[in-house]
Amino acid sequence: MNTSYRRRRLSLALLSIISQGFLFAQQPEKNPFSQNSTAHAPHILSKEAVYGHKAMVVSAHPMASRVGAEILQRGGNAFDATVAVQFALAVVYPVAGNIGGGGLIVARMPDGKTFALDFREAAPILASRDMFLDSAGNVIPALSTHGHKASGIPGTVDAMVQLHKKYGKLPWKALVQPSVDIARKGVFLTTREADGLNEVRESLEQYNPGKSYFLKADKTRWKAGDKLVQEDLAQVMERIRDKGRDGFYKGKTAELLLAEMKRGGGIFTQKDLDAYTAKWRTPLRGAYRGYDIITMPPPSAGGVGLLQMLSMLETYPLKEWGVNSEKTAHCMIEVERRSYADRAEYLGDPDFYNVPVKGLLSKPYLASRMASYNPDKATPSSELTFGKDVRKYESDQTTHFSIVDPSGNAVSLTTTLNGAYGSKVVIGGAGFFMNNEMDDFSVKPGAPNMFGAIGGEANAIQPRKRMLSSMTPTIVEKDGKLFLVLGTPGGTTITTSVLQAIINVVDHNMTAQQAVATRRFHHQYVPDIVRIESGTFSAEVESALQRKGHSFRNIGAIGKVEMILVRPDTSLEGAADPRGDDSAAGF
Ligand code: DON
Repeated sequence: MNTSYRRRRLSLALLSIISQGFLFAQQPEKNPFSQNSTAHAPHILSKEAVYGHKAMVVSAHPMASRVGAEILQRGGNAFDATVAVQFALAVVYPVAGNIGGGGLIVARMPDGKTFALDFREAAPILASRDMFLDSAGNVIPALSTHGHKASGIPGTVDAMVQLHKKYGKLPWKALVQPSVDIARKGVFLTTREADGLNEVRESLEQYNPGKSYFLKADKTRWKAGDKLVQEDLAQVMERIRDKGRDGFYKGKTAELLLAEMKRGGGIFTQKDLDAYTAKWRTPLRGAYRGYDIITMPPPSAGGVGLLQMLSMLETYPLKEWGVNSEKTAHCMIEVERRSYADRAEYLGDPDFYNVPVKGLLSKPYLASRMASYNPDKATPSSELTFGKDVRKYESDQTTHFSIVDPSGNAVSLTTTLNGAYGSKVVIGGAGFFMNNEMDDFSVKPGAPNMFGAIGGEANAIQPRKRMLSSMTPTIVEKDGKLFLVLGTPGGTTITTSVLQAIINVVDHNMTAQQAVATRRFHHQYVPDIVRIESGTFSAEVESALQRKGHSFRNIGAIGKVEMILVRPDTSLEGAADPRGDDSAAGF
């Protein structure tokens, strides 16, 4: 497809989306941005920060944070704790914690060395560009979000094995054992988790006929305090404990996985499992008001977007304007709109598509993007497109946890099945959920995915290609030293939540806990609305922004940021997001 034709198609699709004013092409179970659609933002967000002298783990589940802190206390480093927390989340937080999904890591060592590990799922070898379209070229509803075809090849186990081989200190078995034990003994559900499982009950029955996993034996609804025992998963975790990579991608687990795929019309083969490898990548680096930002490169769109937005915002006096004020919000929304328009055109797997990262991050390019900015008026997305000359400047349901260990190693890891409980398919006999990450590809140019994100050529499906992500695991340095470790779930809102959290600390002088608790807002170019939480803006600010041409949609909770802040005396502030059961554990 030639470029101008592609652009025309994309803009036509955009216009039709805008004029229809709808949010999501395939309406998934309620709010796709929150793991639990019951998770509405309470009016006052509060949770106490946790302080530590030397080490901290912040994750979406108290038990996972505890497992991580115990590993650190036993002399493990942040990489050991990462393996243990990732696997613990697969057991205690099945809505997003996983071995059937993937994720992204950005890490920093005490000497300033950094690395990124991309364990994003890959399209199966038998995948094809139009696999989610019918013969007339229309998107088949739910095919990329539910059921067996929705999954990419999982990356989690391979990444944990590689991470441990390169940087781990404690024996592998010691890191996997806690999840074996918890799966076998059972985990007590919180209200949110019970509600989450109850909400997807119909899908679970539809995609897992005859299997009882995640349904209560007596067919009643889950409630807080119920015990979830996962013996099949315990056995999978034992195989991973004993055989490492081969415990998942070969042998019994692989057989069960491939049999499940066959039963449900999936397209995985053993070749896919053999070929999958997590990839070491070099993090992106940028600067904001004297702080250094270390973040995820493609196939995440998050890092590029974050650095673009910070760079565009740097010339505006956000501190003076204040948090969530009319001026700050208008400026940030306009910056977000422009960055997400670029995302739709230029971002995809860099191993398959030449992502013009350098151009997208160049200062003159970003200045040119803000040339149309009007401080008094919203730029309608229908009048805006991606930056045309970027190559001229060229010379590139989810959960997050943050860890800092006593020697100063820092890990920022975001991991996902995509939607809540992924494709809703549980591998028979293995008891784990599969991802529905194929929906993060652009299944058709201009057709919005479950987060309303659009894309084109850069993010089209190809065998073994990785789908574009918004996940933005990030580390911030101050004066060359570790300062913040943060990230969040939330689909396309991930990048703007990370942006806001950084700005809350850097511009608005907040503590980590305040930065995380502050109400959020999000604009992603298309649809042309500002997504907000209840109480993000005062009534006056909201009306003033409406007069400038912005419209709002309250989508409940936005993101769950898990942040660690290094205080001037080198002690740590662990800030777990009050929007969920998230918890920090430090010492
Ligand atoms: O990688 C991505 O951008 C998405 N799969 C993330 C999905 C997500 O954050 C859902 N959770 N709220």
